[in-house]
Amino acid sequence: GKCDRRRYDLPYPTGLAPFTAGHAGLADGATEVTEMQDPGTAAKRAGELREQIAYHRKLYYVDSEPEISDAEYDRLERELLAIENEYPQLQAADSPSLRVGGEPGSGFETWRHPTPMLSLDNAFNVEELRDWEKRLLRVLDGERPSYVVEPKVDGLSVAAHYRDGLLVRGVTRGDGMLGEQITPNLRTIRSIPLRLTREVGALEARGEVFLPRAAFERLNRAKAEAGEPLFANPRNAAAGQLRRLDSRITASIGLDCFFYGLAAADGPQLATHAEGLALMRELGLRTNPLNRVCCGLEEVLEFFDELGRRRDSLDYEIDGVVVKVDQLELREQAGSTSKFPRWAVAIKYPAAQAQTRVREIVVQVGRTGKLTPVAELEPVLLAGTTVSRATLHNADEIRRKDVRVGDAVVIEKAGEIIPQVVEVVEKLRPSGTRPFEMPEACPVCGSRAVREEGEVAHYCSGAACPAQRREKLLHYASRKAMDIQGLGDALVEQIIAKDLVQDLADLYALDPQVLAGLERMADKSAENLLAQIEESKSRTLHRLIFGLGIRHVGERAARLLASRFGDLNGLFEVSAEELEAVDEIGPKTAEAIRLFAEQEANRKLLQRLQAAGVNVEALPEELSVEADPSSPFHGKTVVLTGRLPGRTRAETKALIEAAGGRVAGSVSRGTDLLVAGDLAGSKLDKATRLGIEIIGPEELEQLLQATMSSPEDRANRE
Ligand code: IVH
Repeated sequence: GKCDRRRYDLPYPTGLAPFTAGHAGLADGATEVTEMQDPGTAAKRAGELREQIAYHRKLYYVDSEPEISDAEYDRLERELLAIENEYPQLQAADSPSLRVGGEPGSGFETWRHPTPMLSLDNAFNVEELRDWEKRLLRVLDGERPSYVVEPKVDGLSVAAHYRDGLLVRGVTRGDGMLGEQITPNLRTIRSIPLRLTREVGALEARGEVFLPRAAFERLNRAKAEAGEPLFANPRNAAAGQLRRLDSRITASIGLDCFFYGLAAADGPQLATHAEGLALMRELGLRTNPLNRVCCGLEEVLEFFDELGRRRDSLDYEIDGVVVKVDQLELREQAGSTSKFPRWAVAIKYPAAQAQTRVREIVVQVGRTGKLTPVAELEPVLLAGTTVSRATLHNADEIRRKDVRVGDAVVIEKAGEIIPQVVEVVEKLRPSGTRPFEMPEACPVCGSRAVREEGEVAHYCSGAACPAQRREKLLHYASRKAMDIQGLGDALVEQIIAKDLVQDLADLYALDPQVLAGLERMADKSAENLLAQIEESKSRTLHRLIFGLGIRHVGERAARLLASRFGDLNGLFEVSAEELEAVDEIGPKTAEAIRLFAEQEANRKLLQRLQAAGVNVEALPEELSVEADPSSPFHGKTVVLTGRLPGRTRAETKALIEAAGGRVAGSVSRGTDLLVAGDLAGSKLDKATRLGIEIIGPEELEQLLQATMSSPEDRANRE
């Protein structure tokens, strides 16, 4: 158990040569195919090219030691593309054609992570880091871990699933349990291999997808030219791009990725995380070259400072470092809380600050009518992004800090949070400024602004305030709510101005002709939007609950309510006591839900949404938050084929996933169970060949019934 810094660079112990066949063909690999080859030759050549591409891609992206020029590499890809064009049947799962993205999909399927994607506990200073280690050492009784320290890149975590060496699925973290399948988008990221350098049965690698600074600036410049709102930071931009339904657009943006962990990998057992990183690199999965093994906290802190000094010169933003116990056995021993592993911690760099001047203080109206004062600033560069606005929260805050128009202020940005005004630089205050007064009327509709007992915020009292309607609609359509893509600021602005939508249910009665007549809209875009709106009718219940914009009901509360009450009518009928009986739902939230449900207008809204065909019931996967480990599907990979009467594919899939299984699209050695109905074809053949367990629809039904009526589940439903 001695700490060995060099181990990080050792190759994976059982390492095979990256590949054997095909390499010899490289010399003639640089010629382009001009004449037709016979199918046999073409297939052989395609195989060689794939191996060469995997090999050189690794040298370029992972090792930063290319053996051939970029032009030669491009030629290899183009030759393979040419062969695939000629013989489409040769197009494989790692075809370079996938890098350019495909036809837009209509939505993302959810995916239950077989092992949850946890987040990290934070340490904001040295004492907190030492406390973290003390707690860790206590659970490790006596054992001294070494650490792997990695830059904490500010992006989005994803899981990349490989089967037999091929990238078969890409999933976002989502809420850590359920993510979204974004496979075509992930395939467009060139630093993510479509094929590993050798076959590994099943492997799940996790990493951070991010937008390098240069790509971020390019993207925002283009947005500015198009008159569109800018992304606030690279992280938001990356999140938006990774979830584009049209992966062809994702392809053009320049997302990048570092892998930082293996959630599962067939093959020999690993003893340390450093070995895992080495294995990933060997397989062609890029890891951050700055990662380092540290023997004790002093070294960790030295590295943290060193990286802090280099931080601004990196091509991407980092907000800290992640410290991880290296020995996997010790990780096991340390375990996790429900949110974080005890064996890892993030140390954050202090928030970046900058000084600028307040040009104006404007008052914004939120969806609940809440009035929020916002400082409009002279644009200033802060942690790599230009900031021109900062929230001032409410009248009390402004008075406390005494922020006035014309003041010099210090602003701060901590991570993804909107910049804050920290303080006024009083000695730079110009003469003739006046303390800020909250307006007495709503700046949008002119109704009286009121401040209720015990509230810090002012609210617009106008029931028909267009600003509130606009914000309500934007919230309803937002990504974490009903996820109606294309219903953005500019469009909602017009919809409200033209009075096309009074309440949310009107959205489902929009007229295509009228929509197409709006500014910057055409037949096609109106059609797309209507398709998106249509799609939103089948969203999960928690999205709808969150989308209604009930005060104090955030995403988490919406999930809890959906899983506890099962449908929206149920939620509208229960008493405040019953609401409060739900773990984590407090009296304020319960009261807000009661108030919302009592309003005649909201009851009408519910009826109209339902009449429009909007799903108001919890889907099976929302009902069971924790899968039962004794379920026959727990941890199993299931493939469905043939006709399975009685349920739609999506329903069957959701039920299996709710019971802890995963449903895969194709049969491989990693498949545990094939469900074959009538007219099953090649999947059945393959499963038979591989000796995989096969059951019919009746047996499936029995297994599903058993999982659905487990005692725990019954309790959940009652
Ligand atoms: S490890 C259980 N390693 O930080 C371990 N995370 O706050 C969880 N992140 O969701 C993640 N760089 O998006 C890990 N080298 C790194 C990371 C990293 C960035 C992000 C990741 C995660 C978040 C946790």
